[in-house]
Amino acid sequence: MGALLSGKAGLVTGAASGIGRACAIRMAAEGAAVVVADLESARAGGEQTVQTITEDGGRAEFFACDVARAADNQALVEHVVDRFGTLDFAHNNAGVGVHTLLADTEDEDFDRVIAVNLRGTFLGMKHQIRQMLRGGSGAIVNTSSNAGLRGVRLLSAYTASKHGILGLTKNGAIEYANDGIRINAVCPGAIMTPLMSNESPERQQQILRPQAMSRFGEPDEVAAAVTWLCSDEASFVTGVAMPVDAGSVAGW
Ligand SMILES: NC(=O)c1ccc[n+]([C@@H]2O[C@H](COP(=O)([O-])OP(=O)(O)OC[C@H]3O[C@@H](n4cnc5c(N)ncnc54)[C@H](O)[C@@H]3O)[C@@H](O)[C@H]2O)c1
Repeated sequence: MGALLSGKAGLVTGAASGIGRACAIRMAAEGAAVVVADLESARAGGEQTVQTITEDGGRAEFFACDVARAADNQALVEHVVDRFGTLDFAHNNAGVGVHTLLADTEDEDFDRVIAVNLRGTFLGMKHQIRQMLRGGSGAIVNTSSNAGLRGVRLLSAYTASKHGILGLTKNGAIEYANDGIRINAVCPGAIMTPLMSNESPERQQQILRPQAMSRFGEPDEVAAAVTWLCSDEASFVTGVAMPVDAGSVAGW
């Protein structure tokens, strides 16, 4: 496709499916070696992502990782460096949601969403930044959501986690800007992935309603933005929360 990430190596979490898969495929098509990270239980999907990349002549491999576990995040970073010699970019994308009213949300569900989405992003960034400091440069992109920029009915735990991801993004960006490390976030709108298609048609329409464009986005439309943010083309961009949302947060 191109050479935006030529000679670079990195990782994508949640890359067995949806947006993460599209990002890994696009990054590899732009010349990167990519470690496709996801849960062991999602290995089949991860291997499918890898197969798509290698069949197109790219370099990729699967690594089983639960982003909610500190040791897994450290091992993932070490694996990328072992296999490809460097960690130039990381996309913290794995995420889960629970659709309930705030007062009906089980404590365990709240904790799980925060553990995967927010703490998982923190743990990922921590180990990625340590490695990028050793390497002298790097780019991190976190997947937040339009639910990181405003409330979304029935998604309070998710909304809290996605707002928190933007806090981590901004703090990391200002703390490491002069170390050659850029940290940004994308805030997708309604993208048609299993996370969305598993919801009822009524719920899908409810989520779609605030968008100015009345259609679901494709995972590749998010991947284009993430890949650009990981590339040197975005060399003066850090600390942004970039909506990729068909006008969802622009107004309703
Ligand atoms: N689809 C949308 O409309 C939409 C909108 C905004 C933001 N997002 C965000 O985009 C990201 C990707 O979502 P998607 O729509 O592609 O969903 P998806 O369900 O297709 O993919 C999510 C992936 O994350 C993996 N995952 C879940 N928990 C994990 C863990 N603990 N460790 C490692 N991997 C784990 C899953 O196995 C899955 O492969 C998520 O952070 C989601 O919140 C999605």
